[in-house]
Order: sequence, then structure tokens, then C-alpha cells
Amino acid sequence: MGANELLAEIEKVGRTHTGGYTRLAWDDATMTLREWFAGQVAALGLELVEDGNGNQIAWWGHGPDALLVGSHLDSVPEGGPLDGPLGVSSALAAVAQLKASGWVPSRPLGLVNFTDEEGGRFGVACLGSRLATGAITPEKALALRDDEGTSLGEVMAAQGRDPRAAGPSEWLSSVSQYVELHVEQGRWLAPHETAVGVASAIWPHGRYRFEFCGEGNHAGATAMADRHDPMLAYAATVLAARELATSSGQRATLGRVLVEPGSTNSIPSRVVAWLDARAEAEPALESLVTGIIARAQWAAQTDGTQVNVRAESTTGAVEFDHDLRHRLAALLDAPTLPTGAGHDAGILAAKLPTAMLFVRNPTGISHAPQESSTPEDIDTGVDALAAVIKDLG
Ligand code: HGY
Ligand code: MN
Ligand code: MN
Repeated sequence: MGANELLAEIEKVGRTHTGGYTRLAWDDATMTLREWFAGQVAALGLELVEDGNGNQIAWWGHGPDALLVGSHLDSVPEGGPLDGPLGVSSALAAVAQLKASGWVPSRPLGLVNFTDEEGGRFGVACLGSRLATGAITPEKALALRDDEGTSLGEVMAAQGRDPRAAGPSEWLSSVSQYVELHVEQGRWLAPHETAVGVASAIWPHGRYRFEFCGEGNHAGATAMADRHDPMLAYAATVLAARELATSSGQRATLGRVLVEPGSTNSIPSRVVAWLDARAEAEPALESLVTGIIARAQWAAQTDGTQVNVRAESTTGAVEFDHDLRHRLAALLDAPTLPTGAGHDAGILAAKLPTAMLFVRNPTGISHAPQESSTPEDIDTGVDALAAVIKDLG
């Protein structure tokens, strides 16, 4: 089955009234997708294992020096249909294509569905690959809580997993290369009139939790001069993020905010907001975040409120393996391009040579229902991944 048909099979899983997808780690939608993935790899005759972190790996052959391909199936809230699933579906379709041609790998081939790449429920991106590589301790990960206050450990146990099994994964020691195909996020390939690109690097990026504390009070009975409204420092922080990112050519977003008590006729007592900051280089990221925090602190001081900031998830700059990315670019006659988006391939890059293939996204929109790629480009991506597997495998 081709990638377009595979994607059509899951197009209703986790879809919401907006036409977007909400498939968060360990929720009903991703549990359905995990079962779908298990069925697909069984149909291909691959042997499926699940590590203690929930990562699903299907093997064609066993032993050291394995080539790993795949991606993730979870999404951001109201995300698009392809961020993650395109990589998994293309890997399934490429293996099906190679098997149908009678090709047999000379080294073990793994096909992975990494769990919780988006961090959409517990706040830390690439949680499955971070756990597998030891980039986060099981203690820290299992203690992370979702908006309902349920911990990852509790959620995994509720889904029949033993949280004590979480942690660095043995299977990773048998993998010596990882190639992830992903829908392009941003619009570089379309103007360059090419369907497939090879990733050169991932921008350093991080997520930071801002807690603004003030004094709840009555919206009508409290004079403006008597207020300690945390919403003001929050608003100043949003504007400062915009100003400082724009002036420095970097990127900053505050797209998630919780207001307590969230009542129309009450001055808020607390506002919690999350900053997503990205920059071309680590020094630029640090000065951007430092500048935003300084502005938040100044604003809070002015209003007699307090602000506490905590880094929740940070990822350093990733340069993809030089030889591997140039080998893929030459094989496919494809351009190389950087990305501002994080990926499991960026986490695995700390442990082994990794590379990424991007498939053209005509609008460049991602993390939104409008994310797309044409059926023709999706097929071209599968052919490219199959060629890479044959070349490396
Ligand atoms: O947020 C990211 O960059 C990725 O899509 N998880
Ligand atoms: Mn994403
Ligand atoms: Mn992704």
C-alpha cells in the first residue's frame, strides 16, 4: 500500500471539528494509531517490539549496525495530518515497495514510531526519543503532568505499561544510522521547485514556562491604581517577545496561556504562559530568551506582581551527520536546507549519524489543519526513502 493510501486509512483518527488533528501521547487517538501501526508492520511480516518508553520498533532482520527509519504519530493540538504520520506512512510504503521488488537488506532494518514527539500533553518535546537516548531521566519524565494533573507514569500505567521500564533503550545500541522523512515545515522547497530536500541542521530551541502572580480582585470595585493584575506583565512579555525576535531575526511565540480564575468580572490572580523560542545559533537563542525574561521581570515589578520562569524543554543546535547528509543529497540530487522545527532525528543525532528528508509542503504551513503535501510529492518522497534504504541497506 502506498503512503497516500496509508494516510487515508487514518485520516479520521483524532480529527476534530476544525479539520485539524489532536493526537496526544497515550490518548485514545494515539492508542488507535499504535494499533494501526502494529497491524501494518504485521502485514509486512516485520517483528514488532515496544520499548519501556512506548516507542514501537518493527524489525526486518536482527543484529548490530541496523538502519532505522520512521517518525512519530502524535500531533500538537489541532495539528495537521502529515507532521509525523507522513514519515511513518512513507517508511511503511517504502518497505512494502522494497519487499515487493524482492530486495532483501544486507543489514537489519528498523521502522520506528517514536512516542510523544510533540510534547503536546506533558510539555517536553521528543519525550520518547529523549527517554530512549537517556537525554531525560525516567524519574523526571514520569513525574511530568498534563493539564489535568495526571503524571506520565500514571497515564502509562493506565494504558497497561510498567512505568518502571522507562529509560534508556537497549535496542538503540544496535542502530548505527537513522533517516527520518518528514513533511517540510516552512516554504523552501516550493520556490526551489523541488519535491524532496535533505536537512542540514536544526535550529536550537526551547520552551519556557512563565508564571505571573498578582492579586485577584473585583473587576468593578477595584480602582485601576489599586490593581496588581498579572495579565499586564504577560501582555508586555508577548509584545517584548515579538519585538526582540523580530529585531534579532529569530523566532518567539507565546501560543499557550492559562488564566486563573478566568472569570470575566475578576482581576486574574495568576497567569501561566509558555514561550517557544528558536534561533539560528545558541548565543542568539540565549540572548533572545534573556531579553524576554528581563522585560517580563521589569513589567512585573512595575505592576507590583511577580514572575517566575522555568525552562521546560531545551534542544541545542543540531548539525546532521556531514557524510550521511551529503550522501543522501548526492543520491537524490536534492538540495539541503535547515529547519526551525525540532525532530526525533535531532535527539538521536547525539548518539548516532542521523539524516532527514523533507517532502514539499506547498504552503509551508504546519502545526495547523492546513498542512499539506500533494499525492505526487508524497509518492516521490516514498521513492526517495526507498532509494535511501537500498543505498544504505
Ligand atoms: O516543535 C517542533 O519543532 C516539532 O514540531 N516538535
Ligand atoms: Mn511537529
Ligand atoms: Mn514532527
